[in-house]
Amino acid sequence: MDSFSTLIRTASHQQHVEAETSTFMSDLLGGRLGVDAYARYTEQLWFVYEALESGARGLASDPVAGPFVRPELFRLPALERDLAHLLGPHWRSRLTALPATRVYAGRVAACARDWPGGYVAHHYTRYLGDLSGGQVIRGRAERTWGFARKGDGVRFYVFEDIPHPAAFKREYRGLLDALPAGDLEKQRIVAECKRAFALNTEVFRALGAEFPLSA
Ligand code: HEM
Repeated sequence: MDSFSTLIRTASHQQHVEAETSTFMSDLLGGRLGVDAYARYTEQLWFVYEALESGARGLASDPVAGPFVRPELFRLPALERDLAHLLGPHWRSRLTALPATRVYAGRVAACARDWPGGYVAHHYTRYLGDLSGGQVIRGRAERTWGFARKGDGVRFYVFEDIPHPAAFKREYRGLLDALPAGDLEKQRIVAECKRAFALNTEVFRALGAEFPLSA
């Protein structure tokens, strides 16, 4: 039988392709959108990571979710520096969540509160993605909008305390494979991971509607 890390990756593969090739992501990475669209996207991420990371504290000693709570992953401080750069010193009062973002962050917060396995699904979907494809996004953003390499504007994508992402991801997959959960719970976690991808796609759809290409 496949390991759980293989199962969750395979099960979400199709949705990964959908997220990656969504109109908004393609336009953003294709350099067809302005920095305002990138800022709006970064703003949405803040709400998601706020839910992930404020929920993390209460889960640190949970047998299922606890091993995944790793401070070197936390993105909120980096996001906040990026937002100060993108939106100015009063960024915090300017943040607004799109309705789709509210739904996504709400689901993450509910899992953090009530269902550690579901929290793991959301944790995997975001952090393993950021450690992987996030590096592609960073490179494109630096080139398209002229941010300093690994500097303000793209710090979200820079994991300063993870010098060897490939090794870290291997270890992370080991944690998934060692998850103390039965088959049924694992199936529910896979389903939640698919839901997490769908929630991301909804945010992209809303951003695509806000930043249509005029050309
Ligand atoms: C244009 C945007 C994206 C690009 C270019 C991209 C690219 C990649 C690449 C190249 C990998 C392979 C990593 C490896 O084999 O080690 C990966 C993995 C991953 N991505 Fe993305 N991705 C994008 C968007 C997303 C989004 C929106 C999500 C979900 C929110 C996501 C979640 C993941 C996850 C969870 C993995 C880890 C799969 C695993 O090894 O278990 N990605 N991505």
